[in-house]
Amino acid sequence: MRPVSIAPSLLSADFSRLAEELARMESAGADWVHLDVMDGHFVPNLTFGAPVIGALRKHSRLPFDAHLMIEAPERVIEDYARAGCDHLTVHVETGYHHRRTLAAIRDAKMRAGVALNPATPPEVLDYLLPCVDIVLVMTVDPGFGGQRFIPEMLGKIRRIRQQIADREIDLAVDGGVTTQTARAILEAGANVLVAGSAVFGSADIKTAVADLRATAA
Ligand code: DX5
Ligand code: ZN
Repeated sequence: MRPVSIAPSLLSADFSRLAEELARMESAGADWVHLDVMDGHFVPNLTFGAPVIGALRKHSRLPFDAHLMIEAPERVIEDYARAGCDHLTVHVETGYHHRRTLAAIRDAKMRAGVALNPATPPEVLDYLLPCVDIVLVMTVDPGFGGQRFIPEMLGKIRRIRQQIADREIDLAVDGGVTTQTARAILEAGANVLVAGSAVFGSADIKTAVADLRATAA
């Protein structure tokens, strides 16, 4: 099986102590910091944006993996580059000119990610993969942590792994990832596990990260 990266989502951390939570993630063995940016329009929840991410940058050496759940993401690409994001993922369900947006993300020296909601068919990727470094498969409707994994998504993950073929693209899965669901997700072909409540809801996040990683064994 391919090497697996674990990307805990700061959405489930204690928002009153984000810098400490970042340090905790790093010592727990996380590979990426997943940053859920929500605008209250594309999703019915509101979190943080580039200014908060920029302030956090100096508190972590891990790659910052920003997941933009916002309308018109093409307008703010430079803001997230300046904030120190390493990856910037946009949704295909918002915006009109995805290839242009993805190219602009790469021009801004970030890895370009594309996210698909559960009801979005994978065929859209046939026209985007040359512009993409990360595919983020949503396995819940985005907006909130702690939702249940949608089992029908396993077939979609398998399909997308075939579409990716031998390209250097990370296949990440986000939503309801737990030690119960992770093995099937990895067997379907994912190589990045995004997990919010499964990590921060546990008493010992180091064990939680290790347990998720162990599902690949
Ligand atoms: C949901 C976010 C996720 C969220 C996952 O809209 O994109 O990254 O943090 O939370 P869990 O792992 O609790 O489903
Ligand atoms: Zn996310």
